Amino acid sequence: MANFKLAPSILSADFAKLGEEVDNVLASGAEIVHFDVMDNHYVPNLTIGPLVCEALRKHGVSADIDVHMMVKPVDRIIPDFAKAGATYITFHPEASEHVDRSLQLIRDNGCKSGLVFNPATPLSHLDYVLDKVDMILIMSVNPGFGGQSFIPAAMEKLAACRKLIDESGRDIRLEIDGGVKVDNIADIARAGADTFVAGSGIFGFGKDSDPNRYDTIVGQMLEELTKV
Ligand code: DX5
Ligand code: ZN
Repeated sequence: MANFKLAPSILSADFAKLGEEVDNVLASGAEIVHFDVMDNHYVPNLTIGPLVCEALRKHGVSADIDVHMMVKPVDRIIPDFAKAGATYITFHPEASEHVDRSLQLIRDNGCKSGLVFNPATPLSHLDYVLDKVDMILIMSVNPGFGGQSFIPAAMEKLAACRKLIDESGRDIRLEIDGGVKVDNIADIARAGADTFVAGSGIFGFGKDSDPNRYDTIVGQMLEELTKV
């Protein structure tokens, strides 16, 4: 299967037993932990920060942790996430005064860097920094909450971004975030994504009535991806 990776968003996990939730979802075949950081300023919601990232590492999580920063300003908190064990750190270009500097700062702190595109944000923000990104994250919902519906225009944007990456010859992951479910993941992959964030689509499934829910839902998503 063409280098596809699932990145469950812990935003929809049970925070009272986060370590166990992450262990279980990784054991089911997901590979990346998507870690949504919200500041009640750049987005109208408040979630988790570096302490929780560090706690997951101390708990024994060795998978890549993909820190999606929905915060403004950006730079002050980057070294904290690097120290806390982040693998990827991505941010929204609108939230940084100096995008090139923020990208460089992430790499200088030993992490992989990425830019995130809201539904209305043009890909032109990549024009002079493609050599400084390891991941491009296309939002298929407006950031701030789990459980929203996939915005169809994201498909066209993914295709444009896939073309850009392929033509550049660079090793850049193309991630999609928002409204990813079993029934649309294959089409999203065909549009060009290789990394799939899913929050409510994974952690919301079946809840406690089905103790094997991650195996089931992660298995179904991976199965869909084999058809691409
Ligand atoms: C939204 C977050 C997403 C969110 C996705 O701002 O960036 O990662 O958890 O949730 P679902 O998969 O439920 O749309
Ligand atoms: Zn996210």
